[in-house]
Parts: sequence; C-alpha cells; structure tokens
Amino acid sequence: MASSSPPSKYRFSLVCLVLCFIVGSLVAVASASNFNQDFEITWGDGRGKILDNNELLMLSLDKGSGSGFQSTNEYLFGKIDMQLKLVPGNSAGTVTAYYLASEGLTWDEIDFEFLGNLSGDPYILHTNVYSQGKGNREQQFYLWFDPTADFHTYSILWNSQRIVFSVDGTPIREFKNLESIGVPFPKNQPMRLYSSLWNADDWATRGGLLVKTDWTKAPFVAFYRNFNAINACVWSSGASSCTSKSPSSTSSAGNTWLSQEFDLASQEKLKWVQRNYMIYNYCKDTKRFPQGVPQECALLS
Ligand SMILES: *[C@@H]1O[C@H](CO)[C@@H](O)[C@H](O)[C@H]1NC(C)=O
Repeated sequence: MASSSPPSKYRFSLVCLVLCFIVGSLVAVASASNFNQDFEITWGDGRGKILDNNELLMLSLDKGSGSGFQSTNEYLFGKIDMQLKLVPGNSAGTVTAYYLASEGLTWDEIDFEFLGNLSGDPYILHTNVYSQGKGNREQQFYLWFDPTADFHTYSILWNSQRIVFSVDGTPIREFKNLESIGVPFPKNQPMRLYSSLWNADDWATRGGLLVKTDWTKAPFVAFYRNFNAINACVWSSGASSCTSKSPSSTSSAGNTWLSQEFDLASQEKLKWVQRNYMIYNYCKDTKRFPQGVPQECALLS
C-alpha cells in the first residue's frame, strides 16, 4: 500500500533530527570561545596564533623563542576550563605552563605545568599554589591518558574556601583555605590567566632529567580550545561581576561553585588519583623540609 507521508514515528524522528540539530548548533555557538576577544598573544614574535574563526589557539617553540598569551580579563574567583592538546612526540625539555597569577612582589598564583618528555614516556603534570609570593607547594602527577593524542579539559575552581585542580572533571588536587591556622590563602588579588610554551631544559635538567631539547624536532606546538570562564568573577575597576549579581542569582545553579563543597564522590575520585598517579607531594618531602613539612600538610588530604 502506497502512502504519501511517512508513518508518524518516522515523522517524529525527522522533527527530532531537525530540532536536535538546531538546538545542538545553538549550544555549540553559545559555548564556543572567542580567543581573539578573551586573550592577547603577548610574546613569541608570531609563534603564537589564533586560528579557525578564533576558536583555536596555537603556541609554538623553536630555538629562537617560545610564545605565550594572557587573558584580557582579570578574575577574582571562578571556575575556569580550557582544553589543551600538548606537544606530541619527543617534547623533552619543553614546558607548557597554564596558570592564574596576580601581579606584584606578593603575588598569588595557581599553576598547571606540563613537563615534556621523550617519545613514549609520560608527561609530568606539575601543580603549585603561591599565596602572597610564597610557593613551595608542588604536587606532581602522571596522567591516565596520552595528553598529546587529543584535547583534554584542565580546570581550576577557585572560591574563598578552596582551590581545586581538575582534569576532565576529575579532581586531582585540593588546596583548602586554612587561614584559621595561619596559612595565607589567595583571595584578595585578582588574577589573569596566562599560558606559555618555553624551553626549560636547564630547569628540567636540574630536576634530574638529563635530556636536552632536541631542536631537530622543532617547532614544538601546543593547541588550546573551548576556553570557558562563564562561571568566573571578572574583576574590573575595583568591582567584581559576581557581587553585582543579586544574591539569588549567586546561589542559583550557575554559581554553585562560589561555595562549592567537596562532595563524597569528588573526594573518592581525588583519592583515586592521589593513590595511583601522584608522583611527588611536598607534604611528604621530609628531606626538603628537615624542620618539618609546612603546617597545612597536617590538614590536607
Ligand atoms: C619522563 O618519563 C620517565 C619514565 O619513563 C620518568 O621517570 C620521568 O620522570 C619523566 N620526566 C618528565 C620530565 O616528565
């Protein structure tokens, strides 16, 4: 029997297909970052580039120089996500730094640094927190995937109570506000987001890796996409974009990060990473701190 219109369930799927496509494209447009608007390439003499309709940023490093960029905005608290795809192959001696930092001598800083390695050997993900110019709080990890094969999301959650470093949504490190026991916590100085790709074979060598950057493999290239700072408080002319929002909007779903607690599931994930992938923890380094590890160590997981 011939029928002029398709049976209703096919019509339904067709409608869905069209609607899903429209909704999907809207979501994609809404979440696409615009690197040209959000960042400025600050050094590298053309080695840093914004590509693909401002949706992709590339940094490169060769014997002449590395390159770097910084955010247009300064933030005082926020949840910031970025996807990075790191230098593939023999990247030994290179460092890709991705961090928040304030200015001045007593600056605050929240660091992700990716230390390159020989082909087939794992990258080290190095993290640190500085408050009021003082760091020395390194923790290092291996990753549970190859960070050069594809883009992965690296996030910083920063509110007045804690700083949480996450990789693909899995928390790898928490730095709690322990001002109550006299540990300074970054909470008064707005920070900008920075990233750079540079040659650190001196530093890496001092760190015990006796491998020099192999310049025959240059240029070394890293890519960035999907920057998301929708849930961040932009600091401008002494005011925060978050305090100007009404209290009800601050507590609404979009801004739960402002007071985000660490739930049980997140604590379990954090423990899993720390048990299986952590390779250095300043809190365990009694050789380095013969007088005793820093006081916050007693209260940090
Ligand atoms: C490179 O990989 C080796 C393991 O093969 C590891 O011992 C070393 O710490 C890694 N170095 C860096 C800088 O990632």
